[in-house]
Amino acid sequence: DGFTAEKLFTQGFSYTYDDVIFLPHYIDFAADAVDLSTRLTRRLPLAVPFVASPMDTVSESAMAAAMASLGGIAVVHSNVPAAVQAAILRRAKSRRVPILSDPAFAAPSAVVEHDDAFGASPFLLVTDTGTSAGKLLGYVARSDWTNQTDKGLRVGDYMAPPPKPAPWNADLNKINEIMESEKSGAVALERDGEVVDLVVREEVERVRGYPKLVAPATVGADGEFMVGAAVGTREDDKERLEHLVKAGLNVVVLDSSQGNSIYQLEMVKYVKRVYPELDVIGGNVVTMYQAENLIQAGVDGLRVGMGSGSICTTQEVCAVGRGQATAVYKVSSIAYKSGVPVIADGGISNSGHIVKALSLGASTVMMGSFLAGSLEAPGAYVYQNGQRVKKYRGMGSLEAMTKGSDARYLGDTAKLKIAQGVVGAVKDKGSVLNFIPYTLQAVRQGFQDIGASSLQSAHDLLRSRELRLEVRSGAAQVEGGVHGLVSYEKKYF
Ligand code: XMP
Repeated sequence: DGFTAEKLFTQGFSYTYDDVIFLPHYIDFAADAVDLSTRLTRRLPLAVPFVASPMDTVSESAMAAAMASLGGIAVVHSNVPAAVQAAILRRAKSRRVPILSDPAFAAPSAVVEHDDAFGASPFLLVTDTGTSAGKLLGYVARSDWTNQTDKGLRVGDYMAPPPKPAPWNADLNKINEIMESEKSGAVALERDGEVVDLVVREEVERVRGYPKLVAPATVGADGEFMVGAAVGTREDDKERLEHLVKAGLNVVVLDSSQGNSIYQLEMVKYVKRVYPELDVIGGNVVTMYQAENLIQAGVDGLRVGMGSGSICTTQEVCAVGRGQATAVYKVSSIAYKSGVPVIADGGISNSGHIVKALSLGASTVMMGSFLAGSLEAPGAYVYQNGQRVKKYRGMGSLEAMTKGSDARYLGDTAKLKIAQGVVGAVKDKGSVLNFIPYTLQAVRQGFQDIGASSLQSAHDLLRSRELRLEVRSGAAQVEGGVHGLVSYEKKYF
């Protein structure tokens, strides 16, 4: 019954996730028993097959810490100077709790009349100089500032004293214990005698209120969260990479919309030669030919997708790309022979898309818009037509390229900039620590329906031709969604 993937994807059509549907198989295990552990690259295992895109409205330190704590990983974008990208990496790796922390500083004489002074931070550190270089005198939690009726007071007059220290890698339980025993509203995280961060009670309570994590966090041998980073393929990217490696980089992504180029092949060989310990992800690719070239050059992972992203206009502007379901299947069917894991990048807007990407051969999914608009995504919330939103923009949008990301989309000789992405906004989604566990559960249920108790078994079903699928007609796609109702609310959890 139905078609094999091999047959379906060799008919001359470019299919994407919504075009295809799997036929149910046989269930002899519970959804909770589905094992989604995987590999990002040849040598980097992940408990959860989710990767955050290297985009400046998605992946900075808060996203990196949150994704690693969940068992996934984030790839920090490169649309900033190398030193700033390295600092983002260090910040994510400086602690083992996925709290929001981008400390703001003030001198004791400062008067804080507006909460702008906190930036995105839940607290203000008061130092003698009012900068990170000064001696820590105390702190003001955002809630203490809110409750302070006389906003004309100097922060030095109502700050709390410097809190008790905990080791940098303490977990939430340990931090909570210290807060309880010290009857304190905060704990300072220390490493080698220096305060690297502060955790306030409201953050501990917020994070403890989310679903309990079961997957092991993504942590390296040094005990730090693992974090990836994007670099380009220009000469100065070699210097950037050196900065990142010194900051503890765990995996590098060579960020290009068309990865099968002489520039990338040379960069892959350079990275393999200079940093043999570092796994390198090449891409993006959508064909077997592109994939073969990068595999031969020595990539440890392949990023698949061209024009499938929600903010992408590459297919419109350049007339190249491929439907994402076809691209993932085709590239995976060659990459697995060399043991190179595939990352299905872009076009994920629901858990069903994730089930499809992973069952068609990908080992992980990379997501931009799915994670944008979360608490952990960079940027502030604003109101648009009565909705709370955060900015989400393509790295090939004019706005992002003005900041420097043009290397991904332009050849070396391009004199005129043409955008291959748009700037937009996405709805407030709350914390990834809340919606990712629910998404994972939905993916497990999809795996159960197709009879795959693990990612490996899904790939085995694909290759043994037991995975059966069909193309959905336009009417079948309408039928497969909610229809025929005057009004409804879509709520998954
Ligand atoms: P989603 O669908 O998850 O896609 O939002 C994220 C992926 O889209 C790619 N990307 C772009 N592609 N123009 C493009 O053609 C752009 O401006 C752009 N910005 C990001 C990228 O692969 C990302 O992971």
